[in-house]
Amino acid sequence: MGMNEVKENEVKEYVKKRYSEIAQSGESCCTPSCCNTSIADVALRIGYSEEDLKDIPEASSMGLGCGNPVALAGLREGETVLDLGSGGGIDVFLAAKKVGAKGKVIGVDMTEDMVNKARSTALKYGYENVEFRLGEIENLPLKDGSVDVIISNCVINLSPDKEKVFREAYRVLKPNGRLLVSDIVTEGELPEDVKKSFDAWAGCIAGALEKNQYLNTIIRTGFEKVEIVSQSTYDIDLSQELKGKITSVQVEAYKN
Ligand SMILES: C[S@@+](CC[C@H](N)C(=O)[O-])C[C@H]1O[C@@H](n2cnc3c(N)ncnc32)[C@H](O)[C@@H]1O
Repeated sequence: MGMNEVKENEVKEYVKKRYSEIAQSGESCCTPSCCNTSIADVALRIGYSEEDLKDIPEASSMGLGCGNPVALAGLREGETVLDLGSGGGIDVFLAAKKVGAKGKVIGVDMTEDMVNKARSTALKYGYENVEFRLGEIENLPLKDGSVDVIISNCVINLSPDKEKVFREAYRVLKPNGRLLVSDIVTEGELPEDVKKSFDAWAGCIAGALEKNQYLNTIIRTGFEKVEIVSQSTYDIDLSQELKGKITSVQVEAYKN
């Protein structure tokens, strides 16, 4: 995207700082203004069911997602799942129940406070089939061909190098492995001032790619059968100039 390395690092540091503050404060939400609503309401609006919320530790539901990838990933018992940007661990804990004791779920996040929070929740509730690793989704701390399924929820838009993220995802998937990611994309271009705002980047808006560009990036990295399986207009507390331009998509793709 023509962004130089200095700017990329600046973006990442800003994002890390923001999510570190969120992890420490228990404050939540991707967009600042939705914090007026209760976490449970935000979670239901994001796409989780009442039953999902009963199944997971409350501390892991931080209102930071933009969909429910586990609900669409068709997880089977015994599978190994990787969650890119696992945050407080909500989707890791949901997936852990689906893959059972013979399966495993690994969450990767670059923000130390998030990883610590998720680890302590796992410990407190006795989850034995989950693991949280500190790391960047552009340089995954996993071996080639080691996971069956990759999920992610409202994270890849935050990365300054999305192609690298999908290339890494492809690398660590086993042959015939699949990807089911929920993310924010845009309908057309965003106003320049929004794209330049660090705050809007950390709020999951400024870094978002245009919808087709997003899908093409996934295809370019080698994935096949790339398909939007669901989508919805995302206008929770958006400014007037952004209304109708932000979409939450759930995309499925396969490694051959
Ligand atoms: C909007 S939150 C979503 C958290 C979680 N997926 C959820 O749905 O609750 C984004 C998370 O991605 C992490 N993150 C952002 N960019 C990352 C990167 N390049 N590598 C690893 N983690 C990243 C942040 O630290 C944060 O925990």
